[in-house]
Amino acid sequence: MAPQTHKAVATTALGVFDEIDVETDIPKAGEVLLKVEYASMIAFDTYQTDLGYVVEQYPNILGFNASGIVAAVGPNVDSLKVGDRITAFTYLSNKQRGMQRYCVQPISVCAKIPDSLSLAAAATIPDNFVTAYRAIFFDVGLPIPKSYTGDDTPALVDSPILIWGGGATSAQYQIQVLRAAGYRRIFTTASASHHEYLKSLGASDVFDYRSPTLATEIIEAAGGKRIERVVDCISAEKTITAIAEFIDPNGILAILLPYKRGDNVRAAGDTSAMSWELWPEAPIPATVAVKGVRAFKYQDFEYLKENLLPKILPEMLEKNVIQPNRVKLLDQGTFQERVAVGLELLRKNGVHGEKIIVKVEH
Ligand SMILES: NC(=O)c1ccc[n+]([C@@H]2O[C@H](COP(=O)([O-])OP(=O)(O)OC[C@H]3O[C@@H](n4cnc5c(N)ncnc54)[C@H](OP(=O)(O)O)[C@@H]3O)[C@@H](O)[C@H]2O)c1
Repeated sequence: MAPQTHKAVATTALGVFDEIDVETDIPKAGEVLLKVEYASMIAFDTYQTDLGYVVEQYPNILGFNASGIVAAVGPNVDSLKVGDRITAFTYLSNKQRGMQRYCVQPISVCAKIPDSLSLAAAATIPDNFVTAYRAIFFDVGLPIPKSYTGDDTPALVDSPILIWGGGATSAQYQIQVLRAAGYRRIFTTASASHHEYLKSLGASDVFDYRSPTLATEIIEAAGGKRIERVVDCISAEKTITAIAEFIDPNGILAILLPYKRGDNVRAAGDTSAMSWELWPEAPIPATVAVKGVRAFKYQDFEYLKENLLPKILPEMLEKNVIQPNRVKLLDQGTFQERVAVGLELLRKNGVHGEKIIVKVEH
């Protein structure tokens, strides 16, 4: 039996966060009640806590991914049952966020996970997996694959696609989703410490993004041609500037919004350092098709809602064609203290190739 109230960690005012008691909801038709064991922390949690970015009301519960056990199901739910282990994209509303002991989710944002996958690792997946799938097949516009075994030979198999920022956890899913769809020329930029790992995920060519000859190296590896398809997983002023040096003028550039001033996953300063559109002075030729990726629009796409988390992700996990991110587990101290450590790591851009996962208990 679920309790009537439970603990959550939420921002209660700009820059202030606390452990609070919230009412436990009852799942309606097509929904499940998730008993959360682990929740992730991402850059967006700091935008909300520190800048009040896209905060509609306080208290504002944190956590855009959560994993745990189905504690109850609403009417008309056949695909999940009490006791199932799931991971969920807990972005839909303040009340549904993951940094709390219980939350109600529609089955469209839930994925059943195999027994071999730990719940902590499973909490790294949904937001970035959704982002990758959306960026590649909806924004860049490559065809939706018929299978995800890596054996298909898609039409553009020989055309390189570049994922900027392979050290970022979101980029690691972009590489894996492309590989699972059969693409073989997957270029990425990352610090040298990530290179071997990114190759193991499916990258064909890995470049150090700090190299002074980066654009030349990329164009050479592409056989002397500029790159037609690029996904920028950092989407900052300086990454866009670097991409301008090797993108084809008639190419497609997908950027993971928000676009940020500076050179990192988290912009320094206030909300004016972030934008939903490229700033006019960005040096990308006007002929490049710039697509803003928004994982938070997941529910707007009927195909994604019906298939991506309920069907495609469980199949890929079962077949072992996609690996979770490596986990930076925060399980010491109180629930609130763990969140405090996570926020501080994110503020300092101090996470490299790992996803911050908080054990949710108090
Ligand atoms: N709109 C959307 O749907 C959506 C979805 C997901 C994420 N995002 C945004 O995308 C960004 C990445 O998120 P994330 O969770 O993947 O980040 P993350 O895992 O925290 O990324 C950390 C990594 O970023 C890399 N990095 C930092 N600056 C870089 C640069 N200038 N060039 C290349 N790599 C750089 C670092 O790689 P090294 O270790 O190699 O230095 C570091 O390991 C965030 O701003 C987030 O808000 C948007």
